[in-house]
Amino acid sequence: MSISSLPGGTWTLGDLTVTRFGYGAMQLAGPWVMGPPADRDGALAVLREAAGLGITHIDTSGAYGPHVTNELIREALHPYPETLHVVTKVGANRDAQGGWPPARDPESLRRAVHTDRENLGVEVLDLVNLRLGNAEGTVPGSLAEAFETLAELQQQGVIRHLGVSNATDDQIAEAQSIAPIVCVQNMYNLAYRQDDKLIDTLAEQGIAYVPFFPLGGFSPLQSSALSAVAARLGSTPMSVALAWLLQRSPNILLIPGTSSVAHLRENVAGAGLELSAEDLAELDRIGG
Ligand SMILES: NC(=O)c1ccc[n+]([C@@H]2O[C@H](COP(=O)([O-])OP(=O)(O)OC[C@H]3O[C@@H](n4cnc5c(N)ncnc54)[C@H](OP(=O)(O)O)[C@@H]3O)[C@@H](O)[C@H]2O)c1
Repeated sequence: MSISSLPGGTWTLGDLTVTRFGYGAMQLAGPWVMGPPADRDGALAVLREAAGLGITHIDTSGAYGPHVTNELIREALHPYPETLHVVTKVGANRDAQGGWPPARDPESLRRAVHTDRENLGVEVLDLVNLRLGNAEGTVPGSLAEAFETLAELQQQGVIRHLGVSNATDDQIAEAQSIAPIVCVQNMYNLAYRQDDKLIDTLAEQGIAYVPFFPLGGFSPLQSSALSAVAARLGSTPMSVALAWLLQRSPNILLIPGTSSVAHLRENVAGAGLELSAEDLAELDRIGG
């Protein structure tokens, strides 16, 4: 499959063209995103398959493992083709219990950026998201000191583009008053649609919206309406959920996670499904 034939086509993040169908690497680490994968060769195979299918957007973070997914990406795909863009996130550490304590002081952020560069084997990180909030969701409060630190690293030439993750509307506006952002990565899927208005606002500004947990994350999406539409179309609920996101707005980029080559292929093949107005109306009622 070539880039142009992946479902959804492409989007431009600043000056970087990526396929709207991307891949989220978080699920490649061990249970609860801690430690190495049970099947290391399987994890490497998923990453190679993603690139082989023409996917040019891979989402990761030094917090996954920690450092496990970045090291897998490097092992599977380095030296990276020029077209492949790896997007990282900084702003959280991991503790011994698997928690995600914030690490947004300037020193922690600088260290995280340089560690990601080292582990991914690149001089310049294509796109770094500042992760805000906590594992339960967004938390209001100023991001100025943290985002200014990333903007400085961008000016120094070690980060190409910036984004924010797990962010409130006010935090997004505050980030934009400090430096341009090319994406917002927040939780959103067919059943969780808090950001509907934000997606449309970002689309008007040419900024990507990258939903995390597009398939429901640790609790995969389950809905009788979703299953009914999938059965009627001879598809699967996961495919319909991804196709719905691609049709929801042109600025939505997909980063579904999977640790299975078979699921990855199924998701790529299924996300191109054309949903009719009737299908969309039925699906819209799930999150309404
Ligand atoms: N910014 C943030 O705070 C934040 C938070 C969470 C995640 N993220 C990013 O978002 C990405 C996506 O999130 P996610 O991976 O946690 O959740 P997700 O994409 O919503 O769902 C992944 C889950 O769906 C399953 N799955 C995938 N395809 C399937 C299929 N065809 N059939 C059945 N099950 C299927 C996977 O299991 P299998 O492995 O068995 O396929 C996995 O358990 C992550 O990789 C990460 O990069 C960001």
